[in-house]
Amino acid sequence: MADHRAPQTNHHLDFCLATEEDYEGVMAISGDVYKGADYIQVKYHSWLQDTKRRTFVAKRKGQVVALESVCLVDDGSTAVPEGLRVAPWERGRGIAGLIQNFVKDYLKNEFPAVKCIRLTRVEDPPSSMLSQYRLLHSKATLSLIFKVEEIEKTVHNFITKLEKEGHYFQSPVTLELKDVRRIYTNEMVIEKLLPAKILIQSWLPVLTMTSNLDYLLARVGNWMADSSEEPNFLSLGSHPFKVPLGDNSYRYDIDLFGTDPRCAKIHFLAQLLVGAKMISGSVLCCCLYIEKQLFQTLDIFCEGIKKYELWKEQLVMEKDI
Ligand SMILES: CC(C)(COP(=O)(O)OP(=O)(O)OC[C@H]1O[C@@H](n2cnc3c(N)ncnc32)[C@H](O)[C@@H]1OP(=O)(O)O)[C@@H](O)C(=O)NCCC(=O)NCCS
Repeated sequence: MADHRAPQTNHHLDFCLATEEDYEGVMAISGDVYKGADYIQVKYHSWLQDTKRRTFVAKRKGQVVALESVCLVDDGSTAVPEGLRVAPWERGRGIAGLIQNFVKDYLKNEFPAVKCIRLTRVEDPPSSMLSQYRLLHSKATLSLIFKVEEIEKTVHNFITKLEKEGHYFQSPVTLELKDVRRIYTNEMVIEKLLPAKILIQSWLPVLTMTSNLDYLLARVGNWMADSSEEPNFLSLGSHPFKVPLGDNSYRYDIDLFGTDPRCAKIHFLAQLLVGAKMISGSVLCCCLYIEKQLFQTLDIFCEGIKKYELWKEQLVMEKDI
């Protein structure tokens, strides 16, 4: 069996597991990723410590030119690639394909229990991906920019607006650990609120088994439901994280599950308030992930808030390996 800890060479590139020493090189290829809303600066070090994860770089003459990380989920049967990026000066030469093939071979050798690759992508993925992967689901996204100091006042204005529309603002319930495990493993809830039975937390798509929920509990700041007993709507707020967008700027991902427009507005406002209280930054880029039928309603509801064009859609795709 090949030693996958040793660098593998292909097309004059060396592929190897990423190390702390590669951080500067990774940052040097990431300047234009996600228009300043990239997470790598914050997540790189924790990815290297994460035992469920392997992170790889491709190097040319010792210089980092690409990165991909994989997270092992679903009790080790599925790998979720994240963070794919190629140095701007190396793009258009097939390097994204090469690093993904290297990672796939690594998985086959080191983690033979992995039978499936599941990932999320933005709208319009390359056609070669569409022919390889099954599309499981797609959600709409909405990205908004707030000045943190104004969030509380903005939310109060929205609550007034909701009440004028005849909707009383009843704050969602914050779920405790035992509620999270009970609700997210309840077949009826999964069937009703999680299309394709996939829970997508901030671009990480997983099945709702206990091992995955335990993993997510460390990533999610706030689990909310309209009711802890019979939920019709659920939401997750990530831990806000610093992004290069501007001085003291944070990104905050809110995943909404369900199709009730009133609940969607209420959960958005409640999660936004919680997220704002978790940081001392000046700018918050809030990314909402919603079922497509809610997009128009929320887009109109958010009129007046500055939009940030990041992505339009979040696709979940899967293929066997
Ligand atoms: C998207 C990106 C990684 C493409 O890299 P690239 O090396 O220039 O891509 P190329 O078009 O030369 O490579 C083509 C191969 O990469 C694959 N590829 C291209 N974009 C891809 C994507 N977004 N996701 C997965 N695979 C992709 C193609 O399917 C093709 O694979 P094949 O050769 O096996 O058929 C690069 O433009 C980049 O780093 N962008 C900024 C970060 C980003 O947007 N990442 C999105 C993925 S999360």
